[in-house]
Amino acid sequence: MSETVTITDNKTGKSLECPVLRGTYGAPVIETKKLYSELGMFTFDPGFVTTAACRSAITYLDGEEGILLHRGYPIEQLAEHSSYLELCYLLLHGELPTQTEFENFRAELNRRNLVHEHLERFYAGYRYDAHPMSILIGVTGALSSYYHEALDINDPEDRILTAHRVIAKMPILAAHCYKHSVGHPFVYSRSDLTYVENFLNMMFSVPCRDFTPNPVAVKALDLLMILHADHEQNASTSTVRLAGSAEANPFACVAAGIVTLWGRAHGGANEAVIRMLEEIDDVKNIPQFIDRAKDKDDPFRLMGFGHRVYKNFDPRAKIIRKACHELLDELEGIDLPMFEIAMELERIALEDNYFIERKLYPNVDFYSGIILKALNIPTSMYTVMFALSRSVGWISQWLEMMDDPDFRIGRPRQLYVGSETREYVPIDKR
Ligand code: SDX
Repeated sequence: MSETVTITDNKTGKSLECPVLRGTYGAPVIETKKLYSELGMFTFDPGFVTTAACRSAITYLDGEEGILLHRGYPIEQLAEHSSYLELCYLLLHGELPTQTEFENFRAELNRRNLVHEHLERFYAGYRYDAHPMSILIGVTGALSSYYHEALDINDPEDRILTAHRVIAKMPILAAHCYKHSVGHPFVYSRSDLTYVENFLNMMFSVPCRDFTPNPVAVKALDLLMILHADHEQNASTSTVRLAGSAEANPFACVAAGIVTLWGRAHGGANEAVIRMLEEIDDVKNIPQFIDRAKDKDDPFRLMGFGHRVYKNFDPRAKIIRKACHELLDELEGIDLPMFEIAMELERIALEDNYFIERKLYPNVDFYSGIILKALNIPTSMYTVMFALSRSVGWISQWLEMMDDPDFRIGRPRQLYVGSETREYVPIDKR
């Protein structure tokens, strides 16, 4: 017998049997698609706190247990054994690649690792001090103009080609944002380097001297990329899905995801954390910031704390904190007092009832900025780094949605609380 939940309108006495659907793990869902036609009602869930918008097999989160799986593999095992490029293959195709599959995947991306020379002119339109996220939004959207014709989103071949183009070209666009800000010549992608070595080379190499990426930095950045690659139906991924549901150009959908990620409540938090730690400046100032975070009249929030889903430690924060320790030990001469401030802030906050009652723990953004700072990546580039890593999650979720039998344009409804119908009054009678 199929499982159902009965919703009864106690005003009319009418009832609706709603099917309950269960997945591999996680909360079962109540299918309410007949709620309006049968009971004349909508569900009401601002912020989609308890709304499942789709079926997905890519990522699973358990907020209470602090579990994160990508295609069934625990993030802790992927962080220890995998690489960002291998994770890209896993997210796209659902299975870890064989050696041959991985080499063919890498060769395919290397065939896509150029951007049209005209794209460089878009950067020239931005001031040198424009926020790199504002530039990344523009140039990623501009990519849609180069692939608009040769793109049939109903053709699976075109769809996977688009995914390869996004993964191969985003590091180029991201590194160019940094080069534009420092007035250095843009550096071409190189097929003889690994994904992260290539990115660091495009970021930091200059014509007048050789650049060899520090293996410690490469390892730390690859880990950070793995930890930011995908995260279920977060705000930016939901934006990409909604734009894609309208059958928009997928490069434009990724640009929409970058727009949403920029918000400081979302991916913009990693930059906001560093700015907050810089403002705290000394451990003795921490109590006043904790007080501000608790003050309802103060818009200040403790950046890097809290999460819509995790009501336990974000497993990614635990991995990054450990990597921070190792990196600062390995990189001689790096003294980041803000790491001490961050750990003391975490200790004090997690002893404070306000944070304990609200289950506010450090999230992925709390420590990630410290690793990026140790790698000499400028603070304004932190959310660009998040967008770079998450671009594979966005395009993987877009691919999954385009193949979904339930695919249809997303169109939420509302609870109307505006004026009743009224007659127009000419201006001379108002
Ligand atoms: C990411 O969704 C994802 O998966 C996102 C992400 C991903 O990988 O894609 O994990 C990446 O976006 C991580 C989150 C980064 N953002 C920040 O660190 C910004 C600071 N955090 C908050 O803005 C907030 O915690 C959110 C936005 C992350 C979550 O907001 P919710 O779920 O809507 O929680 P809420 O606003 O309803 O807060 C519940 C209570 C409130 O207090 P009360 O009204 O109950 O008294 O907790 C308080 C909030 O005021 N609160 C905080 C707080 N976060 C929540 N108080 C102080 N500091 C904070 N950071």
